[in-house]
Amino acid sequence: MCLLCTCLFIFNLWFVCSAPDESRGYLLVHTNGGLNQMRAGICDMVAVARIINATLVVPELDKRSFWQDTSNFSDVFDEDHFINALANDVKVIKKLPKDLSSATKVVMHFRSWSGLEYYRDEIASLWEEFQVIRAAKSDSRLANNHLPPDIQKLRCRACYKALRFSPKIEAMGKLLVDRMRAYGPFIALHLRYEKDMLAFSGCTHGLSDVEAEELRTIRENTAYWKIKDINATEQRSRGYCPLTPTEVGIFLTGLGYPSNTPIYIAAGEIYGGDTHMADLRSRYPILMSKEKLASVEELEPFTNHASQMAALDYIVSVESDVFIPSYSGNMARAVEGHRRFLGHRKTISPDRKALVRLFDKIEKGLLMEGRKVSNRISEIHKKLQGSPRRRRGPVSGTKGMDRFRSEEAFYVNPLPDCLCKRVSENVNASTASMR
Ligand SMILES: *[C@@H]1O[C@H](CO)[C@@H](O)[C@H](O)[C@H]1NC(C)=O
Ligand SMILES: *[C@@H]1O[C@H](CO)[C@@H](O)[C@H](O)[C@H]1NC(C)=O
Ligand SMILES: *[C@@H]1O[C@H](CO)[C@@H](O)[C@H](O)[C@H]1NC(C)=O
Ligand SMILES: *[C@@H]1O[C@H](CO)[C@@H](O)[C@H](O)[C@H]1NC(C)=O
Repeated sequence: MCLLCTCLFIFNLWFVCSAPDESRGYLLVHTNGGLNQMRAGICDMVAVARIINATLVVPELDKRSFWQDTSNFSDVFDEDHFINALANDVKVIKKLPKDLSSATKVVMHFRSWSGLEYYRDEIASLWEEFQVIRAAKSDSRLANNHLPPDIQKLRCRACYKALRFSPKIEAMGKLLVDRMRAYGPFIALHLRYEKDMLAFSGCTHGLSDVEAEELRTIRENTAYWKIKDINATEQRSRGYCPLTPTEVGIFLTGLGYPSNTPIYIAAGEIYGGDTHMADLRSRYPILMSKEKLASVEELEPFTNHASQMAALDYIVSVESDVFIPSYSGNMARAVEGHRRFLGHRKTISPDRKALVRLFDKIEKGLLMEGRKVSNRISEIHKKLQGSPRRRRGPVSGTKGMDRFRSEEAFYVNPLPDCLCKRVSENVNASTASMR
């Protein structure tokens, strides 16, 4: 038996676990997706390895995703720490032993959102025939709910303790956080106003015809984006569009953040660059980014690696005083969950559907920005600030895969599984930092 303690900020968390059982074979994992999808997948595969009594081989990262990043696991994550931190849970090795490279392998697409029985019975039965199981994909392969408590805790331990970024990335991340802190308490704004996002979602509000056409062409030519015909107006009114930089400005002003609030823009290249940022910048002049906080030379080692650049934004976002995502994508969800785990640091998730209605009225001159709008925005977001609550289950009436899809994902809100103590106490201390 081992007793592993993780002191979480203000929560004392004791994890009780036992050493890994004797290994029955090796689990190879090919992760898929961008950085945050891969992170969640890696943590799930740690749990799967535990369930099926496998030795986990350090996962391979996706090099073919939209981001085309050639980084290896050890370029992005601290490999030795990953192996050592999990020593009491799962045996992890860097490479498949040489004598097994010719052993018979089975390649599996694990069924999405599978529970304990699937892995313990169906998948583990493959050991009777094979010494090596290779997971072809890693995203959403493990159920969010109804897993044994020790498995749920292991997922958190894997994600928030074992899986840290490489020393090089951590050091640069810390430097960015320190430089940002020099401006005072700050907001990290995940501004998902990037070309791929807009092309994929078909959101063209506030763009010129030429820009809208460029995005439509990209969508048309990207084979794995299935939906081609999108009505931008309807998309936006359903709340499916990322807020535009201009809308973010109205939102932040409405929430009451004064114009001298330092803001860190966590994002890749903003679509249209400065033209679309001008309004936000005029409201909030202390608008920073990794490119502004660090020199070209300092950033150079990371520049051509999308995952590593995203990791820098991830670190600053987790450490920020307030985190605000303009869209609820993988990064927003991962950071929100991590911040919850660290003691419910404030994350304000915009209710885009409600906001769009307000923005439209403002745009049409039916409503003026000011106290009334501000009260309304504050009212809508009173309960959307990352404070403690249980993870939401499936939407009622949904069935099959849609039912799983409708659940709040484990890593968005690892509660209550990963916190043993009552969560109501002391929460104020961590969330009271800004407004
Ligand atoms: C894993 O090992 C333990 C201890 O030997 C055993 O009780 C359990 O059934 C094994 N599980 C699987 C899926 O092989
Ligand atoms: C990834 O690792 C392999 C060896 O494991 C190495 O040959 C290769 O150069 C690495 N790739 C990068 C981009 O570092
Ligand atoms: C898009 O939807 C809106 C609202 O439903 C509608 O008024 C408009 O005509 C649609 N546009 C196109 C091009 O179909
Ligand atoms: C938390 O804050 C609320 C309101 O700001 C207050 O009523 C409550 O007593 C505080 N709880 C603790 C444990 O400090």
